[in-house]
Amino acid sequence: MNSPPSVPALSQDEQKAQVGRAALAHVAKGDIVGVGTGSTVNKFIDALATIKEDIRGAVSSSVASTERLRALGIPVFDSNEVEELAVYIDGADEIDGRGYMIKGGGAALTREKIVAAQSRRFICIADASKRVNTLGAFPLPVEVIPMAAQRVIRQFARLGGMAQVREKDGAALVTDNGQHIIDVTGLRITDPLGFESEVNQWPGVVTVGVFAHQRANLCLLGTPSGVQTLR
Ligand code: 5RP
Repeated sequence: MNSPPSVPALSQDEQKAQVGRAALAHVAKGDIVGVGTGSTVNKFIDALATIKEDIRGAVSSSVASTERLRALGIPVFDSNEVEELAVYIDGADEIDGRGYMIKGGGAALTREKIVAAQSRRFICIADASKRVNTLGAFPLPVEVIPMAAQRVIRQFARLGGMAQVREKDGAALVTDNGQHIIDVTGLRITDPLGFESEVNQWPGVVTVGVFAHQRANLCLLGTPSGVQTLR
């Protein structure tokens, strides 16, 4: 007897495209959609363009996403023009089983947290490599006021973390908000809610890239064999 034809495993890029398309199921007619940042979200934006006539537009979490949305003909609203969004769709650098995440690999964490906070639901779209048991293997991004960077780096050292200022083209990277990012390795974040609350109140910290208070309500995880929904 012939065995059934084997289905080729999806590449990481195909997993991202698949979850980007799957996220459309969480967008309703007439919505203004909260849109995150990154390569997975870029796939979502491309999918969103196919239903652009059905939505009012988007609130974006970065200059890069705003440019992509506008280039595809999707109107972008300032977050101050919109009181509440039904849904925010964004990627993650790590996500655990409770929906707690590390974000900010694309340096957009502050605006991402703002748009997430004004949204009723956070749908995380990610490929399988992002699913972890405990947060912390991915270097934790923290947006800081530049004059506080070295002091914040010393505070992380006291927690056992090694931090450095993120660079681009040989100089400190400057975020969309005119600030710097430090990336912290060597942490194991077992209490994401408490950790986020503590680091957020260190002087000079703009945003810590732990999203626990703004956790994901649902994750569409791309796997080599298709999309898994994690609640
Ligand atoms: C940007 C982010 C992104 O969501 C995160 O870095 C994941 O990006 P990608 O989809 O490219 O893997 O937090 O600040």
